[in-house]
Amino acid sequence: MKQLKGSADLASIVVRELTKRYGNLTAVNQISLVVETGEIFGMLGPNGAGKTTTVEILVGLRTADAGEVKVLGFDPVTEDKKLKRSIGVQLQMPALFPRLTVEEALQLNATFYPDPFPVDQVLEWMGLTDRRKMFTHKLSGGQLQRLIVGMAIIGNGKVLFLDEPTTGLDPQARHNLWDVFQLLQKMGKTIFLTTHYMEEAQYLCDRVAIIDHGSIIALGTPDQLIGDQFEEKAIELSEMGSENETILRELPGVTRVQTAHNQITLYSTHVEATIRELIQLEAEQRLAISGLAIRKASLEDVFLKLTGRSIRQ
Ligand SMILES: Nc1ncnc2c1ncn2[C@@H]1O[C@H](COP(=O)(O)OP(=O)(O)OP(=O)(O)O)[C@@H](O)[C@H]1O
Ligand SMILES: [Mg+2]
Repeated sequence: MKQLKGSADLASIVVRELTKRYGNLTAVNQISLVVETGEIFGMLGPNGAGKTTTVEILVGLRTADAGEVKVLGFDPVTEDKKLKRSIGVQLQMPALFPRLTVEEALQLNATFYPDPFPVDQVLEWMGLTDRRKMFTHKLSGGQLQRLIVGMAIIGNGKVLFLDEPTTGLDPQARHNLWDVFQLLQKMGKTIFLTTHYMEEAQYLCDRVAIIDHGSIIALGTPDQLIGDQFEEKAIELSEMGSENETILRELPGVTRVQTAHNQITLYSTHVEATIRELIQLEAEQRLAISGLAIRKASLEDVFLKLTGRSIRQ
């Protein structure tokens, strides 16, 4: 069968015109998306954008004010009993029983599912084998985070909802989790995750949606989003103050200039011409260039351009 990207026939998750309000605040505003079976789908957005609200509606923890949601063909609210055995859920702020050990917590979650993974397997995936006898309230932040992801995975559900699964993890642990998610994908799982790490989304996700103020403002593969927003390459200049912005804006090829944390990024359609002029300016001592780097535009550039905010601001 020909695979249709975003086709409702092959979909594990279908969201149509979903809206959720908290009093006067519209936290989720008429979003629509389809997640195919076997896809890793990422939802990105600034703090307060509506990601957790969306996840909580998808797993039946909150009711929508308008719109339609189907997960594996089930309505998450009215058909929650049928759905629960087929999905794994990791919430951003979970409640845990403090007087359980790591392996007891995993074991407990496994009992809710018909065909769970073995506890030993999940302990190994999460790098928690040597912490198995430890009480959960004694775990470090990163260890606890890995436990709650493990608790979502252990059920061997068809669809996994992971709300910021790698937040607070060290780089090694984060990369280990990426390997686990890819392994689960190879087993045929569908993964819906949220993240603030743009390199994670770019590496891991088949498609991403960027959400801001409750609305989806971009949706596609990371490469599509980058290609749609940037024909330019990025030229980074470190240790340069924003007082030079005006000169830089006038350089040939430059379409945009972004300043953040003592670093200036020039987006240029004609990198060679831009660099030539930069060097000329330095020769004339009108600019001091240090830490020059050229790179392709990334998902982070797209995020900054579309939301106008840097991550975690
Ligand atoms: N129970 C609630 N009552 C009232 N307002 C809420 C509630 N939960 C969330 N909100 C508001 O809804 C908006 C969306 O919140 P949500 O938690 O979905 O954002 P998020 O994208 O997950 O953000 P973060 O990246 O910080 O986790 C925010 O403005 C938040 O303050
Ligand atoms: Mg959230």
